[in-house]
Amino acid sequence: MIEGDFKALDRNAVSSIIQKGGTILKSARSDRFRSVDGRTQAAIRLREAGIDSLVAIGGDGTMRGALAFHKEHGVPCVGCPGTIDNDLYGTDETIGFDTALNTALVNIDRIRDTADAHNRLFLIEVMGRDAGFIAVHSGIGGGAELVLIPETLTSMDEVKEKLLNLMSEHVRSSIVVVAEGDELGGAGQIAEALRKDTSFEAIDLRVCILGHIQRGGSPTARDRVLASRLGKSAVEALLRGETSVLAGISNDNVAFTSFDVLNQRRMTVNPDLVALCDIIS
Ligand code: F6P
Repeated sequence: MIEGDFKALDRNAVSSIIQKGGTILKSARSDRFRSVDGRTQAAIRLREAGIDSLVAIGGDGTMRGALAFHKEHGVPCVGCPGTIDNDLYGTDETIGFDTALNTALVNIDRIRDTADAHNRLFLIEVMGRDAGFIAVHSGIGGGAELVLIPETLTSMDEVKEKLLNLMSEHVRSSIVVVAEGDELGGAGQIAEALRKDTSFEAIDLRVCILGHIQRGGSPTARDRVLASRLGKSAVEALLRGETSVLAGISNDNVAFTSFDVLNQRRMTVNPDLVALCDIIS
């Protein structure tokens, strides 16, 4: 918007994209859009191009930006929740989460094969910024022996105790799923702390950071349906004259939540799932 780099999304432009990862829009976080000047520049460019409303796709930062933009320039904006982190209030699920989760899961399964074959302990770091959704869901799906997330405080002593108990039970392999935002640090830092402890000397310990592979690849069917459904609903909302609302999904129905509300709340990991991690580990 700031550069005025617009492209009409006609039938040709959007045909054969549903199976692709990433974004054909090339939209990304923008420092310039965080400033009043940057947003003013964007509004000028929009007006020049005859564009009268916006669908903002992204996470909480995007929705905050869209709200500021609407307040400053009066351009109607409707949001679509797009982030692998799944941490946006106003929707049961964000677009991209299911794909990222399944990518993490497939890779945890693969790592489990090596862990099993060589009796290893793997610390696998997954994305999610400061939210533990990918970690909890992939941890449960991958049968992780321990899941560490920013939402719950687990001390290093508790981690050690849990792992030493597992080893004394002759568990063949162990997988610890670590959310990148966990307060103990990433998987690398936790491994470093374990390696310094003589009780772990005999353990064949490895670290694997899944990283950006979680942000790419062909979307799952669930994500494709969710994106199509919410995209349609966002456009319809703009045509009805609505603004500053997020088109989200709630109990399998499209539901709209105002930006003001969602910017004040945080989506939290279901405590039942956190408890389940402990039970199955
Ligand atoms: O917010 C989505 C996310 O993928 C986070 O899970 C992760 O921390 C971050 O973006 C990575 O951002 P970047 O690609 O800028 O390193």
